[in-house]
Amino acid sequence: MGKKRIVTASKTEMDADNEKSLRPSSLKEYIGQEKIKNNMNVFISAAKQRGDTLDHVLFFGPPGLGKTTLAYIVAHEMGVNIKVTSGPAIEKPGDLAAMLSNLNKGDILFIDEIHRMNKVVEEVLYPALEDFALDIIVGKGPGARSIRLDLPPFTLIGATTRAGLLSSPLRDRFGVMCRLELYSPEELQEIIMRSAKILNVEITPQGARELACRSRGTPRIANRILKRARDFVQVLNMKIIDEKSAKKSLDFLEVDERGLDNNDRRMLHAIIGSFGGGPVGLDTLAAAIGEEKDNIEDVYEPYLIQIGFIQRTPRGRVATRHAYEHLQIPYQEGTVENERFLL
Ligand code: ADE
Repeated sequence: MGKKRIVTASKTEMDADNEKSLRPSSLKEYIGQEKIKNNMNVFISAAKQRGDTLDHVLFFGPPGLGKTTLAYIVAHEMGVNIKVTSGPAIEKPGDLAAMLSNLNKGDILFIDEIHRMNKVVEEVLYPALEDFALDIIVGKGPGARSIRLDLPPFTLIGATTRAGLLSSPLRDRFGVMCRLELYSPEELQEIIMRSAKILNVEITPQGARELACRSRGTPRIANRILKRARDFVQVLNMKIIDEKSAKKSLDFLEVDERGLDNNDRRMLHAIIGSFGGGPVGLDTLAAAIGEEKDNIEDVYEPYLIQIGFIQRTPRGRVATRHAYEHLQIPYQEGTVENERFLL
């Protein structure tokens, strides 16, 4: 279901192409995530001054915020090669061993969705990260023995939607952990203006602002809806993306002023209509709306929590007064059970 949403943060094939051309290649060009940029700048400069390899880095946070982009930027700024793979793509220990032994000194190995790597593969990674070594088992049965192969020093950059999904031995081996935050409308507006320039799309700052406010804090979504707005403006002969044509395009896409689509509204309606506003447990909610739990936690919720429509309480999810107001459902003070949990 998630794949069809214009506002899904999951990566589609089109996004992959899109992102290549729009991706900033240096920290200077990268908009937002100021803390991460400042820190990475220091770590990169320090490693370069010492002639060292950069420590292993973990980027975590909701999809579409630029974890892969940052990995490419780090490689570019360090002046090293980057090899890109993902947790589920590494099926056997041998696949990882082959990749590791092909790295040159200082290279970066980027593993996206690192939390989805299988445990047997993960164990090959531990000595590689800690001692730059591969332990290979030769032979079978009682005669089997382990030989150690040295690897060149390298940097692993891992990306995951939630750091808590990693096993602790893996998490402990990262020297740098960076949590990416959702972007502000101002940052997204700047990203949209930059992308429009690259794509040769005429847009006013107000048009960019309108798209930014409906992008769920996520550059991937901002760039996607910019392209769709460009389509509407072109076909409907509106010439330029200004506030009016941006609004019109997003109304066609059924993305409302706060960036919510039908799925978000369905989830809020379920919490309010079926569970009295909450609290409702994640399992129950997932079953009620026919969505996967992970999707709710990684894709729907972060934004709804950020804009204050949902709160997480020890007993489950609760819809706030803002959610009621947005859906134009009367909010009855005191009678709604959630009030007590918000105190
Ligand atoms: N395109 C996508 N994300 C970006 C960012 N953070 N800065 C600049 N351009 C981007």
